[in-house]
Amino acid sequence: MTSTSSAWGRLQAAQRLPLSALFAAHPDRLSRFTLDECGMHFDWSKTHVTPELIADFVALAEETGLAAAREALFSGKTINQSEGRAAEHTAERGEGAPDSVAQARFFHARMRAIIDAIEAEALGPVRHILHVGIGGSALGPALLVDALGRDAGRYDVAVVSNVDGVALEDAFRKFDPSATLLVVASKTFTTRETLLNAASALEWLADGGVEDPYGQVIALTADPDRAVEWGVDETRVLPFSETVGGRFSLWSSIGFPAALALGWTQFEELLEGAAEMDRHFRLAPLDHNAPVLAAFVDQYYARLQGATTRAVFAYDERLKLLPDYLQQLEMESNGKSVRIDGKPVEGPSAPITWGGVGTDAQHAVFQLLHQGTHFVPVEFLASIEPGHGLDEAHHRHLLTNCFAQGAALMTGRANDDPARAYPGDRPSSTILLDQLDARTLGALIAFYEHRTFTNAVLLGINPFDQFGVELGKEIARSIEGADIQHFDPSTRSLIERAFG
Ligand code: F6P
Repeated sequence: MTSTSSAWGRLQAAQRLPLSALFAAHPDRLSRFTLDECGMHFDWSKTHVTPELIADFVALAEETGLAAAREALFSGKTINQSEGRAAEHTAERGEGAPDSVAQARFFHARMRAIIDAIEAEALGPVRHILHVGIGGSALGPALLVDALGRDAGRYDVAVVSNVDGVALEDAFRKFDPSATLLVVASKTFTTRETLLNAASALEWLADGGVEDPYGQVIALTADPDRAVEWGVDETRVLPFSETVGGRFSLWSSIGFPAALALGWTQFEELLEGAAEMDRHFRLAPLDHNAPVLAAFVDQYYARLQGATTRAVFAYDERLKLLPDYLQQLEMESNGKSVRIDGKPVEGPSAPITWGGVGTDAQHAVFQLLHQGTHFVPVEFLASIEPGHGLDEAHHRHLLTNCFAQGAALMTGRANDDPARAYPGDRPSSTILLDQLDARTLGALIAFYEHRTFTNAVLLGINPFDQFGVELGKEIARSIEGADIQHFDPSTRSLIERAFG
């Protein structure tokens, strides 16, 4: 998107009308700005978009080559230019270049064979799964297991990412070493935190009387040789393709703990739900395309209305890890200031994603949303079907509050006392799921992936690299190497104070 784009010029010139005026002017607003897809109802009617804005965004998408970029994504072209590779997470769900789909199927079959073997107790009586990984190698599996694993009752799963030993000790306290499978997940198999945690977990297995600790290890990685070098038997290394990015990897063998805990059928449902969203994203016209419309709304608020953050509140305890997952997906993908063509991004790139669960957040942070000075577009998620068997009053109360918040943000309320007045006209969108099952969750996550990709295309940036994380890693290595003299006085003093 450049300042010379005519569609962008029109978008910049468009006036923002109050939500109440938009509803009054267009009686059909609801049907124009809602969409039912993959078991979900998307409602953008309480945002400030208008048919004219959508038309201009469609023109902008055409100018920026969204359709071609989308085809390049699905056909396995090298769209991650800075790293010289494709981005083939959709092939994991069967939607991609035929060779890549075939390879993903082959790797999935291996994963399934190991799961069958574990279920047949070929690795002993496994009851606990200790999954060690970080970033994309942890957030996806953690979300899946937390969202869908409650009733599975098959295995206890702990996903440990933090190198702070407190996290591992918490898991150790709950698990019996002789019944624990240690899963080491790392795309590169070089990540310091993961390898350190894995080494400590191996020690714990040995201290707990396990004669062959490596015999209880499974590795999930795109670099099998490194995993073997590290000590994992090659029959227990589950590879995935280098072209699957870390934050897009839960569909690959990185999803192993979820596939094991939920069962293979559920995992396949998850993939099929994502594939359904893939087909929708690939084939639906831009103005009836859920990820694309959501990205238009994102662009509108972040780039044209100056919203520096966007908030996501799931009115569903099972989705409490969704904001964490989205933070990596959206901020690691699109939090960049340089475009693919090397030019600076004009204006803001990705907003800061944050959020929580309802109704908890209402009693903590919603004050700022209703009366604060920040302008925050909010996204609500909820499921019509409850995730529990308690009195229906629980679910009714939960959903009632979800809908009430969107209404309150939009309508506001006048009061003679300014401290008690609600300005209103604050935007929100809602995603209402028929139910939260594996299929719908797959589609929901794929929706967010494609929305992130669309935002990147509109911004002109590559969402698949993450060079911004490297400098800190390098400095940490030099601090560990005691090479501290060249640091600034503040950093040096902190190091000396902590390590003597
Ligand atoms: O440092 C960032 C990052 O590379 C993420 O992109 C990735 O998901 C995470 O670290 C973990 O990487 P790996 O799976 O290679 O251990």
